[in-house]
Amino acid sequence: MYQGLPEPPPIGASALPDGTYDGATVFITGAGTGLGKAIATEFARLGAAIVIASRKPEHLEAGAEAIAAVGARCLTVACDIREPDQIAAAFDTAQSAGLTPTILINNAAANFPVPAEDMSPNAWRTVVDITLNGTYFCAREFARRHLDAGTPGSIVNIGATYAWTGGPGFAHSSAAKAGVKNLTETLAVEWGPYGIQVNGLVPGLMPHEDMTADIQSNLARTNDKDACQPAMRVGRPRELAWAATFLASPYARFISGHTLVVDGANWQRRALTMPEVVPVREQMGRPPFTL
Ligand code: HXC
Ligand code: NAP
Repeated sequence: MYQGLPEPPPIGASALPDGTYDGATVFITGAGTGLGKAIATEFARLGAAIVIASRKPEHLEAGAEAIAAVGARCLTVACDIREPDQIAAAFDTAQSAGLTPTILINNAAANFPVPAEDMSPNAWRTVVDITLNGTYFCAREFARRHLDAGTPGSIVNIGATYAWTGGPGFAHSSAAKAGVKNLTETLAVEWGPYGIQVNGLVPGLMPHEDMTADIQSNLARTNDKDACQPAMRVGRPRELAWAATFLASPYARFISGHTLVVDGANWQRRALTMPEVVPVREQMGRPPFTL
């Protein structure tokens, strides 16, 4: 009934000139699936070579296929971003293949819905370790190499809007993403003098076929995702990918320490009266808590 925000141009279009990333290498974590794959594909379309780092061979293979489909070079490296040694080895592998990343996209993250009181200490640690520690370890490895070589670079950290608001049902992920936003601001100042730009980029709800079963079933509890957004539609992965290619481009050099939200204003939908409160465990269909 309301038209909402218009659909974006089709996949394959770009606001940036052809060849913007000719000769550049983008190192991107978790780009075998979902939004990371969409971001990697847009950089590849603009001429970049892509290095994909993640754990699962089937994801690495899917990422490589997507990049091959747009005719760009792609190297995949098995890497768990919780392990600094594996990250260093992944950068070494890229460099040995003649690919020195000048752009790092920290996209990999971990998440599952769980009431805070039900979460095990290891579940908390796992999500914070991947989402916050992994982001820092990758940024650190990338920056140390550029500082040593005296070369510039650009980092984009993928976040989430509950970094500002808190995320009921996602205490681990929202605390970790708040850390990522804060880290972005610190690193932008520390590394700006050496030519390293650091920004955050936050997607709103952008469904895709690779979403984990946990996240999908959580979303399935809301009836119409489109009508729940001020844009009257969810986001398209390419809308995030275009923002990433802009933020890391020569046209955004003076933007640093900023976190850009691409969510059709959904996170600003607040009022003194909101829908009736339903406790998280009830939303998730869980019985009353007992020790
Ligand atoms: C409660 C859970 C759980 C769940 C795992 N755990 N899944 N607890 N509910 N659904 C607990 C385990 O029991 C264990 O604790 C601890 O977490 C670690 O689990 P492992 O399976 O050993 O961890 P690991 O193999 O390292 O896998 C990490 C993972 C997994 C996070 C658990 O889901 C994963 O690999 N995810 C990667 C992809 C992902 O998460 N994508 C979402 C990004 S989307 P115990 O105590 O038993 O040892 C996103 C924003 C979406 O971030 C926003 C949508 C609106
Ligand atoms: P996804 O498809 O589940 O992707 C997560 C990726 O992270 C996977 O490819 C996974 O690859 C990788 N990964 C997880 N743990 C890793 C580890 N320890 N080491 C290396 N790689 C690891 O999720 P997505 O929806 O595309 O999300 C991408 C980013 O957007 C995340 O930062 C997420 O928090 C953010 N986000 C998404 C949405 C949304 O609506 N989709 C909304 C808000 C924020 P392997 O399994 O191969 O390791």
